[in-house]
Amino acid sequence: MTYVRNAWYVAAWVNDLPDHTPTAMSILGEPLVIFRTDTGYAVLEDRCVHRMAPLSLGRCEGAQLRCMYHGLLFNADGSVAEIPGQDMIPPNARVRSYPVAERGDWLWVWMGSSDKADETLIPPAIGPTHPDYIMGQGYLDYAAEARLINDNLLDFSHLSFVHANSFGAGPDFAQSLPKLERLDRGVRFFRWLTNVPGPVGRQSDALVDNFMSYDFLVPGILLMWNGSFAAGTAQACNMGTPDYEKALSGVTFTSQAVTPMTGDTARYFFCWGPHKDHGDASMRDMLMEIADQAFGEDKVMIEAQHKVIQSTASPKIMPTAHDKGVTIFNRLVEKMALAETQA
Ligand code: FES
Repeated sequence: MTYVRNAWYVAAWVNDLPDHTPTAMSILGEPLVIFRTDTGYAVLEDRCVHRMAPLSLGRCEGAQLRCMYHGLLFNADGSVAEIPGQDMIPPNARVRSYPVAERGDWLWVWMGSSDKADETLIPPAIGPTHPDYIMGQGYLDYAAEARLINDNLLDFSHLSFVHANSFGAGPDFAQSLPKLERLDRGVRFFRWLTNVPGPVGRQSDALVDNFMSYDFLVPGILLMWNGSFAAGTAQACNMGTPDYEKALSGVTFTSQAVTPMTGDTARYFFCWGPHKDHGDASMRDMLMEIADQAFGEDKVMIEAQHKVIQSTASPKIMPTAHDKGVTIFNRLVEKMALAETQA
C-alpha cells in the first residue's frame, strides 16, 4: 500500500510511555524503540548494530540505551557510545535515529528523510491535557491495513449502518452528502443536520441544528469539532460555518490518528470529550463509552473487509457519491508518495 514517508506519524500517547523502560512500536513496517532521555524522547531503529537483537529489550541508562544482549550502549542520536571489551568504536557503529516531537499529548515520529523533518507539518491535534477540553483517550489495534481505517474516516455514510446503535445515526445521515474542501495536506468536511434532537445524552424537546466539521490530514489524522445551535442557525449562516461561540450545547472535540504498523496491522489512537463550558467528566466518560462501542463496531467491519480484500485475486472497488473525500485524499497520498520516490 502507498503511504507518505515525509510526514509525522503518531507513535504513542506520551502518558502511556514508561519513564525508564524502552517501548517497542512499528511504523510503516519499520521496528522502532522509544525511550526517554533527559531532554525528551528519542526514537531509534529497534535493531542492534551488533547482532540485530531488539533494543526494546534493552535498559535505559540516563539519556542512553543499552542493548541487553552483549551490552553495546547507544546515544539518543543512534551512535554507539560504548562497546564492552573494545576501545575502538567504528565510525559506522550506529543505528538509524528518527526525528521526534511531542505535541497534543502524542509522540510524533518523522518517517521520511531527517533533513526534511519540519515541525510545522505536525497536524494541530489537541489531547487530554488541553485546558479547554475534558477528554478521555485510548487506542485500538487493528488486524487490517491502515488505509482501510482512513477510508472509513473519510466517508461517514457508514454511521447510519455500522453505528446505528452507538452514535444513534438515523438512516437520513447517509442520505445527505457533506460539503468538502481540499486542503494542502488533506480534506475538510462540513455537515449541517437541521431540526434534529440534541446531542447524545443531552436530548431535550427542543430541536437543534447540529454542525460537524473535520479535517482529515496526511498521514491519517482526524480533527473534528461538533456543536449544537438553535434551530434556524444553519439557514441563517447560509449553511456555512457558524460562530462557535454561539453554540448552545454539545461542543466536543476529537483527535484521532491512524498509524500503519505493518502492511496488515495498524494502531488507531483517539481522544474525545466536551468543551469545559459544555460538559464535565461524567459527560467525557459517557462519550468514551460510546466511542469504545462505536470503534469496536468499525473494527469488526474493517478487519472482515481486510480479509475479503486479501483473499480476492484482483480486488476492485466501485466508488459512490460518498467516496469523494476518500478519492481526493487517496489521490493526494499517491501524488505525495510519487513525488517522494522521484525526488
Ligand atoms: Fe546488541 Fe550484541 S546484539 S550488543
